[in-house]
Amino acid sequence: MHFVGAGKLSAWLPPDASYQAAQMDSAFYGIYLAAAFAVVFVLGLAAVYVFKFRRKNDSEKAFQTGKANVVFQAVWVLCAVGLALYTFTLDFCGFMDRTVAPGNALQIEVTASQWKYDFAYPNGHVADTLHVVMGEPVQLKINSADVVHSITIPALRLNQAAIPGQETTSWFTADTPGTYDVRSNIYSGDGFPGMQTALVSHTVKEYETWMATVTDIFAGRTMEEVGQMLYDTQGCKACHSVDGSKLVGPSLKDVYGNTFATKEGVDILVDDAYVRESLYTPNVSVIAGYEPVMTPYEGKLNDKEVEAITAWLKSISKFAQQEGN
Ligand code: HEC
Repeated sequence: MHFVGAGKLSAWLPPDASYQAAQMDSAFYGIYLAAAFAVVFVLGLAAVYVFKFRRKNDSEKAFQTGKANVVFQAVWVLCAVGLALYTFTLDFCGFMDRTVAPGNALQIEVTASQWKYDFAYPNGHVADTLHVVMGEPVQLKINSADVVHSITIPALRLNQAAIPGQETTSWFTADTPGTYDVRSNIYSGDGFPGMQTALVSHTVKEYETWMATVTDIFAGRTMEEVGQMLYDTQGCKACHSVDGSKLVGPSLKDVYGNTFATKEGVDILVDDAYVRESLYTPNVSVIAGYEPVMTPYEGKLNDKEVEAITAWLKSISKFAQQEGN
């Protein structure tokens, strides 16, 4: 239930960036105005009576109280009960709604620690800021790595404790673009004032661009480092050593610039083109002494990643060095 006109009064409150925030503001103003009415009404009556029924001179007798007016009392009690019911119903549905996240909500794991937040996205990327798509529900799964913290996002009217060893959750759907404060409202030691970050509410396109930029493996790494990283993360490790020992496949040490005999009896020089062929269609020309079991990486590694692997293979090959590569 929305309190009519609540939006107009929100100058007191932080900007609201989700429909849940608007819902809570309505409830807040509904209860606030009901309480303000009760205060003004009761104190106003008290003030009027103090004046009206005051003892006017010393000789006047104290005011005689009459009999209780049952109808008046009944009306008063019903009004008070009505007020209580009104405040309850104001946000009951909103409360239920905010308790259970929709099934399709994007799950972001939040880890609060002294004195920062880590946000782990479904694709495994971990960022120190919270990025979401407008109009899409997001569920936060909140944990703490050390002491009790909270995640507090005033623009969403969201406030949830982060408790070590116990996951808490909260969800929202941002509906206004912008950057909003994220902080903790539970003191956690010296670095507490610095425990702040940002919620960025994007369009789908902006979100995707952001994700593509931050997950770019080339950012801040040399080609050789990316090549080494791909060797570690793409499963090459399982079949290829880098110390010269033979596993399922030949060791990748001293391969680049070297010459190998294939099963078909042809000698092959390992150069850029051959590395590329080995990765995309490994079982076309197979090195003698090995089975054609290497996983084809066509579609899994792009051109730039192949270049990075090539650069890395050069860096671990004495034959590449001799050629001056
Ligand atoms: C399932 C095991 C397996 C995986 C995983 C694998 N390879 Fe291979 N690889 C092989 C085998 C076996 C050969 C030799 C037979 C052939 O040429 O196909 C080979 C050959 C190669 C060659 C040619 C070597 C030479 O001496 O000419 C290169 C280069 C290579 N792999 C690189 C990689 C890289 C880089 C990755 C990871 C992105 C990878 N391989 C993943 C098994 C594997």
